[in-house]
Amino acid sequence: MGSELIYRGHETQPASDSYSPKPDKPWASVTRAARYLLREQRLLFVLVGIAIASLIFTIVPTSRAPLAPQTNAPILDSINYFPVETQNKFSYQQRMGFGSGNPTGKIPLGLKRKGLRIVVTGGAGFVGSHLVDRLMARGDSVIVVDNFFTGRKENVMHHFGNPNFELIRHDVVEPLLLEVDQIYHLACPASPTNVVGTLNMLGLAKRVGARFLLTSTSEVYGDPLQHPQKETYWGNVNPIGVRSCYDEGKRTAETLTMDYHRGAGVEVRIARIFNTYGPRMCIDDGRVVSNFVAQALRKEPLTVYGDGKQTRSFQYVSDLVEGLMRLMEGEHVGPFNLGNPGEFTMLELAEVVQETIDPNAKIEFRANTEDDPHKRKPDIGRAKELLGWEPKVSLRKGLPLMVSDFRQRIFGDHKEGGTNPTKNTASSA
Ligand SMILES: NC(=O)c1ccc[n+]([C@@H]2O[C@H](COP(=O)([O-])OP(=O)(O)OC[C@H]3O[C@@H](n4cnc5c(N)ncnc54)[C@H](O)[C@@H]3O)[C@@H](O)[C@H]2O)c1
Repeated sequence: MGSELIYRGHETQPASDSYSPKPDKPWASVTRAARYLLREQRLLFVLVGIAIASLIFTIVPTSRAPLAPQTNAPILDSINYFPVETQNKFSYQQRMGFGSGNPTGKIPLGLKRKGLRIVVTGGAGFVGSHLVDRLMARGDSVIVVDNFFTGRKENVMHHFGNPNFELIRHDVVEPLLLEVDQIYHLACPASPTNVVGTLNMLGLAKRVGARFLLTSTSEVYGDPLQHPQKETYWGNVNPIGVRSCYDEGKRTAETLTMDYHRGAGVEVRIARIFNTYGPRMCIDDGRVVSNFVAQALRKEPLTVYGDGKQTRSFQYVSDLVEGLMRLMEGEHVGPFNLGNPGEFTMLELAEVVQETIDPNAKIEFRANTEDDPHKRKPDIGRAKELLGWEPKVSLRKGLPLMVSDFRQRIFGDHKEGGTNPTKNTASSA
């Protein structure tokens, strides 16, 4: 029975005792494979294939790497102090292709840069919306997270329908999980929730290995005893004053940012922004430039607090956006002062506004507000040297662009209420 099964259909099969094994040919399989390869130039094809694959793996960034492994930790992060070496394997550098295979992360000429996925918190606000315009123009995918506390949908509406653009109505005090490469954190109500929002965004950056940029402020210098202010100056802030909630909130945000950098190895960047103005600025938010412009357009007196001799520097929004992007893409953590070192007293600013909008606009003096800094002017030496950045737009050039936008928003068109017909260039930051 057994032999029937084994030799079925093979009547001529030799008996087992006459079996002799074939002579041993140890290289037979190797020589057969080699002959196969050499036939019809197959070897050449294999070599070309290997070359193409290595080229692709060298130059294409691995930015769409999977999410970092989820831990059981709650999303609202407390700071974990563990050594940088043990940081998330999916660190920003690895995800962006900046690892050993591609130390510079530079893309060879002729190849299109791969778009990044970027979150802009507060992206429907004044600065945020201009930043979003630049990122979208560069070909990135942008997710705006905003609760419209001071921001407006109108600021980003022109991107609706673009598949690279998403808008999420969300309060950053609540955790949020998104897979992104970079986080520009601009959302900032002047309240303690600032700290919670920053903590949430840092937690997100740590979890997904994204690079995080904090928009801090010159207010961290308080009423400065050093002039102009360098980044090394620690400031002079009243911790219990009427302005402290914002100032101390930003100082704490900087502290948290550095702790996440040192403790958890998160890639961070810190910008200290000085007074910025431009189209889409909130009309009635109490900032001095928007106050003066709105008052002059409405034919109201320009209110100057104190004697008007306190100084500020004013930066046009496109200069700031350029600085923020250079900082995010560069190698340096900061903090960096981003501001225009041109210094104006409040009275000088009022004069520029009169020149631009209405030479007959009146000036009205009021008692100064508590803790109003006397002087504010950035030292931008560090940004010049390390980011190759400096502002380009002077107040006299930038103000008319803002006036045009304000006039349109206050009166609904360009004709009413003023004398300056400057064209609105709000969309290009
Ligand atoms: N503009 C300046 O002169 C200046 C100066 C220093 C620092 N900054 C900083 O730059 C950033 C942007 O300032 P801006 O002038 O564009 O202000 P903005 O008020 O126009 O923009 C802030 C945006 O954040 C949103 N936001 C506020 N709280 C939020 C929350 N809890 N969740 C989600 N979104 C929220 C608002 O709706 C708004 O769209 C802020 O962090 C600000 O502190 C600005």
